Amino acid sequence: MRAHRFHVVIGALAAQALSARAAPAADACAPFAGQAFVAPSQALACLKSFPFNETLRQNVLTNIARIFDFYTFEDFYLNSPPPFQESTANIRAEIARINSTKFETDYDFNRAVYNFTTQLNDGHTRWFPNCYDTFQNLLPAPVVTLADAHGVQSVFVAPDSVALVELVGTEFTSFFDKMGFDWRRLAGARVLEIAGMDAYAYADLIASTESGNYLDHGVRVNSVFSSYRISGTDFSQRFGDIGGPAFPDRNSLTMTLIPVGATKAETVTIPYLANYLGANFTDQKSFWEVNCAANNETNGVDLKTLGDGSALRKRGIGVARSGRKLARAAIVDKSNSNAVGLPSQFLPTLPPANGSTGVIKSFILPGNKTGVMFVGSFEGDFNQFQTDTQAAISQFKASGVSRLIIDLTNNGGGFVCLGQFLHQFLAGTAKLGNAGNPGFQSTNRGNPLAKKIVASDIKLKLNDSFVFYTADNFAFLNNQQMSPAHDYIDPSVPFFVNGVTDQTSQRFFDTCGLAFVVQPPEQPPFDLNNVAIVSNGDCASTCAMFSTLMFERHQTKIAIFGGKPGEQVQYKGMAGNQVLEWTDLDDEIKTANVKDDPLAPPDLLVNANMRHNWRTAWSFFNEQLPIAYVSELPQFRFPYTNETYNNPQALWTFAESKFFG
Ligand SMILES: *[C@@H]1O[C@H](CO)[C@@H](O)[C@H](O)[C@H]1NC(C)=O
Ligand SMILES: *[C@@H]1O[C@H](CO)[C@@H](O)[C@H](O)[C@H]1NC(C)=O
Ligand SMILES: *[C@@H]1O[C@H](CO)[C@@H](O)[C@H](O)[C@H]1NC(C)=O
Ligand SMILES: *[C@@H]1O[C@H](CO)[C@@H](O)[C@H](O)[C@H]1NC(C)=O
Ligand SMILES: *[C@@H]1O[C@H](CO)[C@@H](O)[C@H](O)[C@H]1NC(C)=O
Ligand SMILES: *[C@@H]1O[C@H](CO)[C@@H](O)[C@H](O)[C@H]1NC(C)=O
Ligand SMILES: *[C@@H]1O[C@H](CO)[C@@H](O)[C@H](O)[C@H]1NC(C)=O
Ligand SMILES: *[C@@H]1O[C@H](CO)[C@@H](O)[C@H](O)[C@H]1NC(C)=O
Ligand SMILES: *[C@@H]1O[C@H](CO)[C@@H](O)[C@H](O)[C@H]1NC(C)=O
Repeated sequence: MRAHRFHVVIGALAAQALSARAAPAADACAPFAGQAFVAPSQALACLKSFPFNETLRQNVLTNIARIFDFYTFEDFYLNSPPPFQESTANIRAEIARINSTKFETDYDFNRAVYNFTTQLNDGHTRWFPNCYDTFQNLLPAPVVTLADAHGVQSVFVAPDSVALVELVGTEFTSFFDKMGFDWRRLAGARVLEIAGMDAYAYADLIASTESGNYLDHGVRVNSVFSSYRISGTDFSQRFGDIGGPAFPDRNSLTMTLIPVGATKAETVTIPYLANYLGANFTDQKSFWEVNCAANNETNGVDLKTLGDGSALRKRGIGVARSGRKLARAAIVDKSNSNAVGLPSQFLPTLPPANGSTGVIKSFILPGNKTGVMFVGSFEGDFNQFQTDTQAAISQFKASGVSRLIIDLTNNGGGFVCLGQFLHQFLAGTAKLGNAGNPGFQSTNRGNPLAKKIVASDIKLKLNDSFVFYTADNFAFLNNQQMSPAHDYIDPSVPFFVNGVTDQTSQRFFDTCGLAFVVQPPEQPPFDLNNVAIVSNGDCASTCAMFSTLMFERHQTKIAIFGGKPGEQVQYKGMAGNQVLEWTDLDDEIKTANVKDDPLAPPDLLVNANMRHNWRTAWSFFNEQLPIAYVSELPQFRFPYTNETYNNPQALWTFAESKFFG
């Protein structure tokens, strides 16, 4: 009965979209101007209303091709080592393919570039066209993978989906209520099939084709499911890539499921609704102006003309108290832009420890033996992260806590030096004896334009207050900071991989200690055998570097939750070392006065970002292998249960019993 009524309504929507298409003169965007939610077919009709434009294709492809010259992992992609084979790609051949493909619309072209970069599965190296990532599709039935009371794992509609979906707001829920689609009864249903496939096979498919961001397939499988996280500085629940995909290109998803209390499976077609995340517009023309056309923040600037750090901060560039520009390594998770909270009944009930107002939330578990730091990211306030770490750990020590659990679930990274700070704080500087560097060597790519940038920076007497390319950002391998006038990239060093010889810079260390406002202690605050990590593997960039340091240097116990049963999950997602947004790279190029060089990427004519992994971190176990390509499995692997998938405190209590019980 319900299903019948639902199909009638969808039919009406489809008819509406069809009539919009039948009348080419009609404005495809105006009908939903000012609405936060719109039927996916309508959203897609607007996105597809901009015709393909060859000038824009040449601009975009020339820009990204020249940015790829800086991409440190390019040659590794020719034959990605196991278990990361899924990411193998010939980057230049892909660009040539997209250059010769016939596209109907500008959306189709951009989607091809987006798909190609997303499937590199490196969250540091992706094309984000602002014009076309303006919607997130939301399903009122996000899915999770849980073990039941007998330990049998299955896919379920998230048991808390009613509370979660209601947080999206009545504008969202009333759409389904009006059409008579009862999404509430699906909460907790056991899902057998999705889109006509075994539910886990569908999870694998989305992980292979849409999730991106992480080299490891198993980690991507966890990102298709709903999970708890910290978004900004608040507890949140991510819908997951099945419940909340990045494009409005599906109108519905069919699931075969057994609702709670039922014994028989039924097949339900669940509608998606698209959430508009872009800027306000009134019609197709203004949609283009506010979302798609290049603006004053699309391309870089000559930072020499801006003045001091406050002008840099206005452009969103992190600057340390010492005046140096702060390196970042993070993925972009668009789902943070419309994040809803974690339903309040699942928030920790323990009182927060000191230092819990930022991206870190700290607690002392009942019994006062174990402290927990939920490190949601390494973003936000660079100095507060350090003072919060110190405040939490002082309180733990004052309360007699002797064991520490660090939760890295859905930590997308952030400032490079905060990962190194947290490692030094926990390990103590006495034991490390390495003058504050993390122990792994770093390089950037020694291409001809990079060499010209460094040479020009030296001539212009630039330093780390404006640019990342000067040598004073780094230290020699004896830990002595380089002088800004040192040329560490010319002569470059040949590096051979997958049959290709390429050039890298000379090797160097980070110099994070120079930016710290809190001095890490000499001695570890806790016996490092009593420090453990929990996560869902979706721990990227700076988070991956931090967990690698803990695992490889101190054999820290790591437990990974979730994943597909029988499929392995690495404990970390994507380990780069430093990421440059397109504006960051263009800032370097323009500040070095080399924008006129024929190798320089042209300014973008559209509002978009091609970010790339600019520095490689080399494994200390094998200095010919980037940390990103070192396969490392956690010592512990647990399924989520209905008690833990959305309840951090319950998960920490479970982990305490497993690690220290
Ligand atoms: C955009 O539109 C919404 C809804 O109409 C309104 O609440 C909001 O203030 C507008 N934002 C801007 C920046 O104009
Ligand atoms: C294609 O885009 C360029 C750059 O924005 C613009 O000047 C040109 O008019 C567009 N061509 C067509 C046919 O719209
Ligand atoms: C795309 O192909 C055309 C025709 O072969 C060529 O002129 C152009 O340089 C290519 N563009 C890019 C970005 O490779
Ligand atoms: C991009 O990937 C999606 C998901 O796999 C697919 O449906 C779509 O056809 C692809 N589009 C293009 C232009 O490659
Ligand atoms: C979890 O499922 C078990 C049965 O498998 C049930 O007894 C329990 O009440 C459920 N807990 C929650 C929080 O839903
Ligand atoms: C870009 O322009 C907008 C609107 O005019 C302004 O609010 C913003 O501050 C400008 N950004 C920069 C970096 O100048
Ligand atoms: C834990 O510490 C709190 C605060 O100091 C105290 O009230 C409580 O009794 C302690 N609990 C145990 C089991 O020691
Ligand atoms: C926690 O913070 C409060 C307020 O800043 C302070 O008075 C207290 O001493 C701190 N507790 C510990 C154990 O550091
Ligand atoms: C770095 O460059 C800035 C801007 O030109 C300048 O103000 C500062 O004195 C320089 N710092 C050093 C240590 O040379």
